Amino acid sequence: MPFQIVRNDITKMEVDAIVNAANPTLLGGGGVDGAIHSAAGPELLEECKTLHGCDVGEAKATAGYNLPAKYVIHTVGPIWQGGNNHEQQKLNSAYINSLYLAKKLGVETIAFPLISSGVYGYPKAEALKVATKAIAKFLQYNDMMVYLVIFDPASFKIGESLFDDIEKYIDDRYVAENAEPFYSEETPTPDINRADVSQRIEPPCENSGIRYSRNTSFEPSVCYDDMLSSSDDYAEICGDLIEKIKDESFSEMLLRKIDESGMKDSTCYKRANIDRGLFSKIRSNPQYKPSKATACAFAIALEMSIDETNELLLKAGYALSHSSKFDIIIEYFVTHGIYDIFTINEVLFAMDQATLGSK
Ligand code: APR
Repeated sequence: MPFQIVRNDITKMEVDAIVNAANPTLLGGGGVDGAIHSAAGPELLEECKTLHGCDVGEAKATAGYNLPAKYVIHTVGPIWQGGNNHEQQKLNSAYINSLYLAKKLGVETIAFPLISSGVYGYPKAEALKVATKAIAKFLQYNDMMVYLVIFDPASFKIGESLFDDIEKYIDDRYVAENAEPFYSEETPTPDINRADVSQRIEPPCENSGIRYSRNTSFEPSVCYDDMLSSSDDYAEICGDLIEKIKDESFSEMLLRKIDESGMKDSTCYKRANIDRGLFSKIRSNPQYKPSKATACAFAIALEMSIDETNELLLKAGYALSHSSKFDIIIEYFVTHGIYDIFTINEVLFAMDQATLGSK
């Protein structure tokens, strides 16, 4: 996963470089600046003195000394002055210049704090948006593992309205964890002849089995109950489903959808926040079984409808269900046509759910 939001203390991150939200003197301070200097030891300050300061939006590197990281990249974010003093551009430059300096140093893994969102007073939701956008842009053209390290939950804010809308969407749909699955091997649907059905439904992968919860909707407008007007209807639907499942594996369907979209492979896996290594595994193994988060990531990258998303997930042995908040959040974004994986990951992270992309 080339971009991951994590909760941690940046001085503990075992990466090639950590970024310091410094001030123009580079002589240390409070917040993350203070934490990095105290963890790195006094030699860091000695080297910083040789750099003769740093302008806002610029970046300079030193060694990491006692830190696990090999380098510290010091950058200076803007002080928030209401938003009319080019703060956004300056903050964007702080991320971009730090990333390109890291690239020049041969850095492969880097960790950022949420620059300017503390003492410098940048509104947190805005600071997060600028950070995500700058990092996503850089990752479109470069390969690097980038962590955004959130030290205290209070500093992680996403847009209130989006967050409230999703919370309500979850509340309206979330069913208790132990909700009886609508259809499963153990509880055959009473008015359906199981022999007939089980012959026609082959689990897409040997050990997964297929569980249809009452809320698994293959058609956005039709839930299963309406679909079961008769056993013939059900058998018909399963018949179509089987044909789809039988036709292609997950990997085959994914590659077909990428070709149909006209997207380059690299564009697709970057939009899915999947690294190149995992994508080549999927491409070279028609029977590859991805994690649910990876399958969802590709559905998002390809801007699939909820129907296609369910179909792609089913190929990997999964189904979206309303007994999982993760699934409901994915459903929210797909049905609302919001396919920006970094925005989705911010919400998933804020709601303590697994984020999208390969681990
Ligand atoms: N690890 C990760 N993030 C941290 C840590 C830590 N150990 N400590 C603080 N943070 C987070 C804060 O929660 C905030 O979200 O870093 C973010 C940036 O906050 P500040 O450190 O206050 O940096 P900034 O807002 O950019 O202000 C820079 O503060 O410390 C001084 O010398 C620094 O003058 C400069 C100013």
